[in-house]
Amino acid sequence: MATPMRTAVFVSGGGTNLQALLDSVENGTVKSAEIACVISNKKDAYALERARKKGIPAKAITENFEEEALRFMDECGAELIVLAGFLSIIGKGILSAYKDRIINIHPALIPSFCGKGYYGLHVHEKVLEYGVKLTGATVHFVSEEVDGGVIIMQKAVEVRHDDTPEILQKRVMEEAEWIILPKALELVASGKVKIQGRTAIITE
Ligand code: GAR
Repeated sequence: MATPMRTAVFVSGGGTNLQALLDSVENGTVKSAEIACVISNKKDAYALERARKKGIPAKAITENFEEEALRFMDECGAELIVLAGFLSIIGKGILSAYKDRIINIHPALIPSFCGKGYYGLHVHEKVLEYGVKLTGATVHFVSEEVDGGVIIMQKAVEVRHDDTPEILQKRVMEEAEWIILPKALELVASGKVKIQGRTAIITE
C-alpha cells in the first residue's frame, strides 16, 4: 500500500469535524491519509486540544497566518490540506502552493447558503429563515472564489419545522458532515478524484 498522504487540518473552533477525521484514521475508514498537523487561527480553539491528545503537532497562528502556516506545514511534511471548520479565507500563497490539494466542508448544499458571511451557525439561521425543507453538507475543492470550487461530495439532510439553528447544525453534522468529510478525504488522498472542468470524477 502507498504511504498515507500527510494532511494538515485547519480549524477555528470546537473541532468535531477534526475529531471525525481522527477517528476515521484510527478505525481504518481513512487509510490513504494521516493527520500530520493541525493549525488554528484562534488561540483558544478546543480543536487544538483534540489534536494534542492524539500526539499530533498543533499550533495556533494569529499573526502572519499564511507565512507561518506554510512554514509549519513544511516542517510537518503536509501534502494536502483539509479545512474542517476553518472560519477564515485562505490566502493566495497557500492556494497556489497547494493547488487542487485543499478541500473544505461547508454545512449546506452549495450553491445554496454559501459564500461570504455564510459560516458556522449563520448558515443554519439563513436556512431556517428561508424555509427550505432540505439542507445538508458539501465537500469541495478550495479555489479563489469563496465556496466556489469543484464539488466532491454532498449529502442532504431534512429540515424540520421546529428546528432551531443549533438543533439543525447538530443534525447536519451527525447525518452529513462527519460522514462525507472522511469519505472525501479518503477519495482525494487515494487519487480517486479527477477534476474535469467543473466536475469531480470519482473512480472507485
Ligand atoms: C462545521 O459545521 C463546519 O461545516 C462549519 O463550521 C462548523 C465547525 O464545527 N464550516 C463552515 O461554515 C465553513 N464555511 P467543528 O469545529 O465542530 O468542526
